[in-house]
Amino acid sequence: MQYPQSPFDVTQLPSWQALAAHRESLGSFSMREAFAEQPERFDEFSLKDCGLFLDYSKNLITTQTRELLVGLAREAGLERAIHALYDGALVNASERRPALHTALRRPIGDKVLVDGVDVMPEVHRVLNQMTELVGRVHDGLWRGYSEKPITDVVNIGIGGSFLGPQLVSEALLPFAQRGVRCHYLANIDGSEFHELSAKLRAETTLFIVSSKTFNTLETLKNAQAARGWYLAQGGTEGELHRHFIAVSSNTPAAVAFGIREENILPMWDWVGGRYSLWSAIGMPIAMSIGMSNFKELLSGAYRMDQHFQNAPFERNMPVLLALLGIWYGNFWGAQSQAILPYDHYLRNITKHLQQLDMESNGKRVRQDGSAVDFQTGPVIWGGVGCNGQHAYHQLLHQGTQLIPADFIVPVSSYNPVADHHQWLFANCLSQSQALMLGKTLHEAERELRDQGLGEDEVQRLAAHKVVPGNRPSNTLVMERVSPRRLGALIALYEHKVFAQSVIWGTNAFDQWGVELGKQLGKGVYSRLVGSDTGAAEDGSTQGLIDFFRGRHRG
Ligand code: F6P
Repeated sequence: MQYPQSPFDVTQLPSWQALAAHRESLGSFSMREAFAEQPERFDEFSLKDCGLFLDYSKNLITTQTRELLVGLAREAGLERAIHALYDGALVNASERRPALHTALRRPIGDKVLVDGVDVMPEVHRVLNQMTELVGRVHDGLWRGYSEKPITDVVNIGIGGSFLGPQLVSEALLPFAQRGVRCHYLANIDGSEFHELSAKLRAETTLFIVSSKTFNTLETLKNAQAARGWYLAQGGTEGELHRHFIAVSSNTPAAVAFGIREENILPMWDWVGGRYSLWSAIGMPIAMSIGMSNFKELLSGAYRMDQHFQNAPFERNMPVLLALLGIWYGNFWGAQSQAILPYDHYLRNITKHLQQLDMESNGKRVRQDGSAVDFQTGPVIWGGVGCNGQHAYHQLLHQGTQLIPADFIVPVSSYNPVADHHQWLFANCLSQSQALMLGKTLHEAERELRDQGLGEDEVQRLAAHKVVPGNRPSNTLVMERVSPRRLGALIALYEHKVFAQSVIWGTNAFDQWGVELGKQLGKGVYSRLVGSDTGAAEDGSTQGLIDFFRGRHRG
């Protein structure tokens, strides 16, 4: 399939211009009034599929807004782009690669061609390899150098080789197979290594070096530190293969590190790092929850893939979330998006979505290299409720910016304690309610008078108590967090991000921007350690280098 389609400026499409006019005409649209006037609003703007329930009724939209937004998706060629994504077209134009994370979730028997070769047999061969390896660890057959079974698995990886696996293994802790603990080592900061290694015994620890490229500074440094620590603890070079395995598309580099070829699980160019938890990069997930649960995760994502491909756009969750994001970012001036999980197990989802969304959609040129002159990806931030309510929600409620929020909440808890879960759920709902309803000046004054305050006090305080409201949010509800539902939830956001990139005409699958820092990092390092005595490119960096060197000399 020919992809990307010929470049277009989305702002010149008739549907975009119709949306701009519609935004003008909405003027002071009030969600409060819309709910009062339309008893069926909740039913009209909510849907259920793949084990997820999406309420998007608390948005600054009417039925016409949805029609116009869906028109934009159609006019921008989203339908065709979804087929192109699934069929292995070169959706990552700058790197001339497909992005086939969806192939990783497809059932055996499906066919997906890359350069004329069906990749599905290889996908399932690696799943079998994972099953075998995980089984040996869980059954105590994989033994360390002292013949003791493995008790701790440490994933050494960063970015997509860390955030997705960490999110999932920690979100699915109730499904963890007892006996194997999972840890993550990502940052190059020695303190992280120090604190983690202090908890481990080398003879019962298995390290997974997870790096698509096997070329990432932080991961390689940590892998070397882990090997040094293992040898210092009594391990030998000869038994290294019992303690180090790898997941990488760069087998020669992993072999050069000292990992046996049969202990290297492959990865492929056609899987992007931030979309890779479904591949063997998911090894720590499988080590934690077992392969049958890992396959449930895949099947949840697969259901979402089918939904994305087949559901009409008006009832298509990823498409609707994508369009709402565009509505606020491009027509209401919103620059950030809050992700607010009301569930301890989902606490890392904000970090994963930060990479997924910001590395994918933090772009300023189209697939053909032409510059865009409108806003693309928002800043993704947030964190677990209710903690945020006692920290940054103040700005959501009364700050000057419009910040759309996604609330994510399960209806049941794995760990009910008294009525905590009812309170947690109530807090989630009341936050989105407060954002939407706000509090008028009149209501604030009445409330103060009802408290018995004199008129002077009422007038002094009322303005501070006004909450503008009319602030949009989505609420995603599910039963308890399960492998399937979590798979669907993560795939939902993957497809949302892709759909937005298609509409903007950008590439969601490259990340050239992160390269500059890596390049400059080498020069700064050489100057810090004195192997390069030349001046830095700018005075500020040189001043800070001098500061560091001054301290280390003293
Ligand atoms: O530097 C960014 C990045 O390339 C991410 O896209 C990727 O997820 C991460 O680094 C880790 O890369 P690798 O798996 O190759 O070590």
